[in-house]
Amino acid sequence: MFVFPHHSVMKKQLIGLIFSMFSVAYIPSVLAQQETAAPFKIGTESFILNGKPFVIRCGELHFARIPKAYWRQRLKMVRAVGLNTVCAYLFWNFHETTPGKFNWQGQADAAEFCKIAQQEGLYVILRPGPYSCAEWEFGGFPWWLLQKKDIKLRTQDPYYLERSRLYLKEVGRILSPLQITHGGPILMVQVENEYGSYGSDKDYLLKLRDYLKDAKFDVPFFTCDGVVQLKNDVQKDLFAVVNFGSNPEAGFKALREVQPEGPLMCGEYYPGWFDSWGNAHHTGSAERMVKELDYMLQQKASFSIYMIHGGTSFGLWAGANCQPYSPETSSYDYDAPISENGSANAKFYALREMLKKHLQPGEVLPKIPPAITAQKISAFNLTSVAPIFRQLGKPELSDTTLNMEDLGQGYGMVAYETTLPAGAKGTLDFGEVRDYAEVYLDQKLIGVLNRMKNEHSIALPALAKNTRLRILVEAMGRVNFGEYMHDRKGLIGEVYHISHTSKSLLKGWKHYSIPLGEGNPAFKYQPIGTAGKINEPAFYKGTFTAQNKKDFYLDMRWFKKGIVWINGHCLGRYWNIGPTQTMYVPGVWLHTGKNVVVVLDLHQPVAARLQGLEKPILDSLTEVKVSSNHRKGRQQFGNNVNHLIYSGTMQNSASWQIFSFPLRTGRYIALEALNNFAEDAYTSAAELELLDENGKEIPRTLWKIVYVDSEELKSQDGKSENVFDLQYTSIWHSQWKDRSPKHPHQVVIDLGAQTCISGIKVLPRQDMETGRIKDFRLYLAEKLFNGL
Ligand code: GLA
Repeated sequence: MFVFPHHSVMKKQLIGLIFSMFSVAYIPSVLAQQETAAPFKIGTESFILNGKPFVIRCGELHFARIPKAYWRQRLKMVRAVGLNTVCAYLFWNFHETTPGKFNWQGQADAAEFCKIAQQEGLYVILRPGPYSCAEWEFGGFPWWLLQKKDIKLRTQDPYYLERSRLYLKEVGRILSPLQITHGGPILMVQVENEYGSYGSDKDYLLKLRDYLKDAKFDVPFFTCDGVVQLKNDVQKDLFAVVNFGSNPEAGFKALREVQPEGPLMCGEYYPGWFDSWGNAHHTGSAERMVKELDYMLQQKASFSIYMIHGGTSFGLWAGANCQPYSPETSSYDYDAPISENGSANAKFYALREMLKKHLQPGEVLPKIPPAITAQKISAFNLTSVAPIFRQLGKPELSDTTLNMEDLGQGYGMVAYETTLPAGAKGTLDFGEVRDYAEVYLDQKLIGVLNRMKNEHSIALPALAKNTRLRILVEAMGRVNFGEYMHDRKGLIGEVYHISHTSKSLLKGWKHYSIPLGEGNPAFKYQPIGTAGKINEPAFYKGTFTAQNKKDFYLDMRWFKKGIVWINGHCLGRYWNIGPTQTMYVPGVWLHTGKNVVVVLDLHQPVAARLQGLEKPILDSLTEVKVSSNHRKGRQQFGNNVNHLIYSGTMQNSASWQIFSFPLRTGRYIALEALNNFAEDAYTSAAELELLDENGKEIPRTLWKIVYVDSEELKSQDGKSENVFDLQYTSIWHSQWKDRSPKHPHQVVIDLGAQTCISGIKVLPRQDMETGRIKDFRLYLAEKLFNGL
């Protein structure tokens, strides 16, 4: 053991040095790899651009979500708000729609996007993937990867790695010449995306980094992760940035713990959030955004605002989250400072005001481009119709059900058909239905199976004769985040006919592919008047006259659920449950004069009628009538004192609250909030983790909410599932809009199996104090609790 007689200062420095040598020592290694003459480098304290310290003020936008003709306008807005860099994902599936065939033209012209950014005075941070997330279909992965039955995405699976290598090689061919090292705008390149939320195989990341190097990328590489996931994949050879939606102090503190030196950067700062069907519209406070970004700049820290402009998930490109399955809306407005149609909103002006204070010497803010105006389109009727079932085409036959990928189909719908024998009433049981199915006996619709509600069985009436069973399955977005990403579509698993006497496997299936996407669906139409009553999914077609080529918002409120095309451009999905009730129509896709619109409706529209509005409707839910999605009638959490395992008090802070107790076993856990710090009626929580016998977080894959007394579903997405969705920005919040039921508030989770627990971690809401739990009780039981 060393003894230091008297020089405590020297002793401290020596200890500091030993610490930095044994701790991660990231920067020295990353720094060492950089060419001294490199125009852009990662310094020990700041980024270095052309030899001078440089603070990255960045905003994220996705060129795949913006009509090409508008790229320059959007980039001018990014410059005008006061940013100096734009961050862009590449979505692999947008460029390699079929294996080996790449498209870098038109809407997919990534090089052109980077060039325009440079012309508009912006640098570029490139996030090529192979995985991107971004609420984009399958996180950016091409659907055809799933044709390989045993593929293991985001691992060192040889097939997956080889396809990723070929894709990244192609990205290098197109974009490496646009790096700052070659006179272009690209400063840095990200490796994968938030891998720490999925795995911890650091070599996998280094392999991808090497593929990028082989693809001639020679600017610095980096990774991004959420605050807690940083530890899972930060490593010495890759610079790390941290993603957070609030509390920059805590975020940067966590980054410093794994990366003691180097520029501080927030890789994704969320001014708003994305929307999903059936959940309340998300907004974020402009005031908090400005305050927190100002704080970061005062620390000379860099940031990227995710999203500075969200745009639209046109076509069938919107993805989904899971568990529970939660498909995202077509609008990706994200409550960003630059709205979906490219216009400046209050957040834009507040941000510009603040950023004015942080310009580099000699840097001036350009004028704000002229405002974008929209047009009105008076209401008009669609006049012709194409019922789907009369035009199904040639089936693929198989004794077992084939999923969409087996049929060589990426997107759209599949109609499954077989025959049910005459017999007593019973049930049809499906393995999984991905994602929205209509079940018909002959022409008669007997029900809908919605994956969002985890529905996979349906009652069958008695059948007097052999009857045709037809199931039309619509694929909504493939999961873009988390462990459910191997998201094959269609009917997954076997289908059983169960009656009180027998359980029989259904065979002899016909599969009718109905591929959908860009371009009008190839169906024959007849005048609506001659088609008689339409009791099946159908395409409706009509025309409208546009006086000019200004944008507008198509009002979908007469229709129920489906997809829309204008002049062959697929605008995306719509669904009358909301929260969005309109679809953004870019003026550049219009003709002055006659325009053709096609609407698929899986249900029968109230009227085949549309109109164009000047303003969007992004926050109108139509189905929320309950105090909770997980409470039947007057169900109550009964007296369960015999299952009480712990009582405690939390701190009023944004940090994780950790409580340990003697090891207990059970399957159902209940967290009961008794009060909060504001002494009002609300409860909120962002995340909940349970610890096993070794104090390690227990996987949450099988968790399901079985009861919650109150969740705000109308004016905020306060659903209880948000406590295990790995997103720190989403929260469980008890009701506050229509009514504010008093404490106690309970959330009860089925862990899926008897589980040993030695502790609980609760992450309070991050953005404000409202509802933060103070005193609480924890219950654990092997069987469901009394009262439920
Ligand atoms: C993560 C991902 C992004 C996006 C945001 C949420 O942090 O990295 O791609 O999904 O969450 O919008």
